[in-house]
Amino acid sequence: MHNAALLALGLPWRYLAFEVHPDHLRAALEGARRMKFIGLNLTVPHKILALDMVDALDDSARKWGAVNTVRFEARDSTGTWRPIGEFAGPIPENIRSHGFNTDAEALARSLQEDLGLTIEGARILLLGAGGAGRVAALKLAEAKAGELFLINRTRDKAEKVAAEIRSAFPGVKVAVDYPHTEVDVVLNATSLGLKADDPIPLDGRDFPLKKTVAVYDMIYRPAETPLLRSARAAGCRTANGLGMLLYQGIGALELWCGRKAPAEVMKQALVQNIYGS
Ligand code: ATR
Repeated sequence: MHNAALLALGLPWRYLAFEVHPDHLRAALEGARRMKFIGLNLTVPHKILALDMVDALDDSARKWGAVNTVRFEARDSTGTWRPIGEFAGPIPENIRSHGFNTDAEALARSLQEDLGLTIEGARILLLGAGGAGRVAALKLAEAKAGELFLINRTRDKAEKVAAEIRSAFPGVKVAVDYPHTEVDVVLNATSLGLKADDPIPLDGRDFPLKKTVAVYDMIYRPAETPLLRSARAAGCRTANGLGMLLYQGIGALELWCGRKAPAEVMKQALVQNIYGS
């Protein structure tokens, strides 16, 4: 999606994938800085490790406790740190790395654009309190969800996330329990559904899908998890996590180039690459 966007924007940059052992992350970041990379994305487990490795941390990365986007910056003639991607002439040698997080905002945008769901005031059942589930829960609370119901196989982790929400967002109602009434959306943040023979992360005896308007699965491969299939059969609106992938990418690209990303071009490239159609 990034290379398609770069082509559409006429930027002579390339987006490449590098496999880096976690032990070598610091050296890899230093190498990218020295080679005057514009920026980079990080994935698990580097997102958390990089928190201590970048020269500056944006509030987004500090707030969500993870860096998924690094932007390299140099001082302009006025002494202000500016993205390397915005320098027309030679890039100064003194470069810093600046860590951001575009994942949490991407979830909110995907829920809005792909499901038509406004988080504010919504009643939400969230499945999963691992890395992705925790950030999702905190983002939903920050965006003023009306009521959050947290469920996790290891109940203790859901309790911890609930405690974090009660402390940071005291206005948001949060329960570690299944809802007894209808909800606006069920959101899967567990890894159940990645494998073809995975069970559905929600037992209909605990919460029947007919009691939710919509179901969002953060998994995007396969395109339709067993949860989404059941949700569709129950008449729910559904969306998978492709939108999250797209919007975190749009957020990153806009940080690197300071221009509006060509969303439609990126979406088409993503769909083509992931689903081959
Ligand atoms: P991620 O960064 O993708 O969130 P993670 O932190 O390992 O990865 O979290 C995986 C999530 O899927 C957790 O909520 C996990 O539940 P536990 O906290 O109990 O481990 C959930 N999960 C994974 N396998 C599961 C299974 N077989 N049944 C139910 N939940 C499962």
